[in-house]
Order: sequence, then C-alpha cells, then structure tokens
Amino acid sequence: MPDLLSQAGLISLAVKEAVLPGNLEREPEPMAMEGEGSVEAFHDAGDDAGALWPVYRFNALAMSALLPEGGRVFDLGSGSAQLLLHLAQLRPDVTIVGTDLSEEMLSRGRQAISAAGLGARIELIEADMTAPPFEEHGAADLISAVFSLHHLPDRPLLTRCIDRIAKAQAASGCSVWIFDHARPRRAQTAEAFPKLATPQVSRALKDDSRNSIKAAFSYAELSESTDAIAEIRHAQARFLPLYQAHWLGAHPRPPISGQGTRVDAERGTRNNDQQFRAFLSLWPSSVRRFVQSGYASKPPS
Ligand SMILES: C[S@@+](CC[C@H](N)C(=O)[O-])C[C@H]1O[C@@H](n2cnc3c(N)ncnc32)[C@H](O)[C@@H]1O
Repeated sequence: MPDLLSQAGLISLAVKEAVLPGNLEREPEPMAMEGEGSVEAFHDAGDDAGALWPVYRFNALAMSALLPEGGRVFDLGSGSAQLLLHLAQLRPDVTIVGTDLSEEMLSRGRQAISAAGLGARIELIEADMTAPPFEEHGAADLISAVFSLHHLPDRPLLTRCIDRIAKAQAASGCSVWIFDHARPRRAQTAEAFPKLATPQVSRALKDDSRNSIKAAFSYAELSESTDAIAEIRHAQARFLPLYQAHWLGAHPRPPISGQGTRVDAERGTRNNDQQFRAFLSLWPSSVRRFVQSGYASKPPS
C-alpha cells in the first residue's frame, strides 16, 4: 500500500495529468518478454503477496463473470500464467488455453502450472496473438487478452489481432475480455506512477511497468480498434486513468450452481483484500458491479 507521502504524490500526479497539456507518443516494447530477470520479476509480482495480485483478482473476477459453468477460455499473451492460475483456482470448473511467444514465459508458466497441480486444466501453447489458432483448440466461451496488447508494435498489428478476435466472436458468440494499461498524456505520469503506486517492488519491475505504460495504446485508440467487435463495451479507470477494459458479455449473469458462491464473501490476505478494494474503487460503478458478479464455483478452502 503506498504510504501517505506516495498517496499525496499520486493525487498531485492525477491532477497534473488531468489539467496540464501533453501528447505522449507511444514507445513500443519488444513483443516477446524475455530475459530471466524480467520473467522472474514479473512472475513474482503475481504471487499471493505480489503487487499484481489485486489487479489479477479484478481480472479473474471479470473473466469469471463472463464464463458459463464448465466454460473454456482462450487467452492471448498469457506470460507465465499467473492470472490463469488465479482464475483456475477461483473457478475449478473452467479449462484454459493460454498462448505466448516467449519460450521463457511459457517454460516458467508450465513449471508453475505443474507445481499447482493444474496441468489437466491449463495448457500453454506457443502462438502469436496476431494469428491465434482458435480453430485448432475448439470453441472458447471467452477470449481474453490481459496486459498483452501493448506489446504489439503498431496499429496495423493491433487491428489484425482484434479482427481475429472479432471473427472468432462472431462465429461462436463467445464473450471477450480485454484489459491493459492506457497511455497517459504526459511522460511524467508514466515515469512517476510506478514509483508512487508500487514503491515496494524491484527497480526492474518499476522499469517494466513504466515501459508498459509508455507502450500502451491510449483509451481512444483501443476503443476505436475494439469497436470491430460488435457491441463491445469500454471503460477506463478513473482518478489516474492508466487502465482500460473492453468486454462483451455473452454470459452477463453467471449461473450459480448449488455449489456457487459470490466471491465478495472470500478474502485474500488482509492487505491483498484492501488493495483489491482500492483498485476496484477506481472504476465506474457499472464495472464494479459487473466485476463483483464474478463468482467462485465452490467455496475456497
Ligand atoms: C506483460 S505480459 C502479461 C502476461 C499475462 N497476460 C499477465 O497479465 O500476467 C505480456 C505477454 O505477452 C506476450 N506477447 C507479446 N507479444 C505477443 C504476441 N504477438 N503473441 C503472443 N504473446 C505475445 C509477451 O511475451 C508477454 O509474456
């Protein structure tokens, strides 16, 4: 949790981002995330006590809200599968195919999946999200891309990726969940945000976070591109608008079986839970309600 000084810094940063002029250009990142140090730092951030846990909880709940009982997920740019593990633990009824281009991420992810005993439900394959092999893996109930689109080098490749999703969605009627950073208007916002919001993480992770924010598509750019998916909805986090979500709910009211449970009855560690609630509060109320309708298909032990 940022200390009081950092919280004051975040408020000042938000005010400047809102009122000062700026026109930050995209600075693309390499596509595949590689390098043992950065893969390990990113993986650790998704652990139970890691800085990404609250954001993964938000995403896993949203994805759960979009999945029917026994649903199948096709995820684009899965990294080391920390989000997929989170979702699989929340929803023991779902199966997941995750994709990535980075051998190191795939290998770290397979190791984590095997250690969690979830190899029967999560498969990681090497695939490019601009040419995802949807057909080879059977119909998905949900296509997702979390923190991955900002790795695409340019708008034409983004368009190609979104067009593939749109085509698969139109053919199957599945749900879609896209989440990423939103590029701010000012470079100073991207520079200062990781230092103020996550002062506890390693230098490598702060640098990665800053680079991702600078590589992100703006909310306007990604909203325009994702409009290729019919009836998709868009939302951006408020206060410091550095996150965006685009989704289509084929299953907006998840069937809760006899064993089903609303997850707001479930708590992570106290600190995790506080941070998750703080992250959730950044979103418009319609998104908060939608995310909170995500559920676990059996009470967590
Ligand atoms: C920041 S990580 C996010 C991983 C995961 N979705 C998460 O939220 O933890 C982005 C991942 O996208 C992968 N990636 C980048 N370009 C890709 C492409 N064209 N196709 C598939 N994966 C790609 C990178 O290798 C990296 O592992």
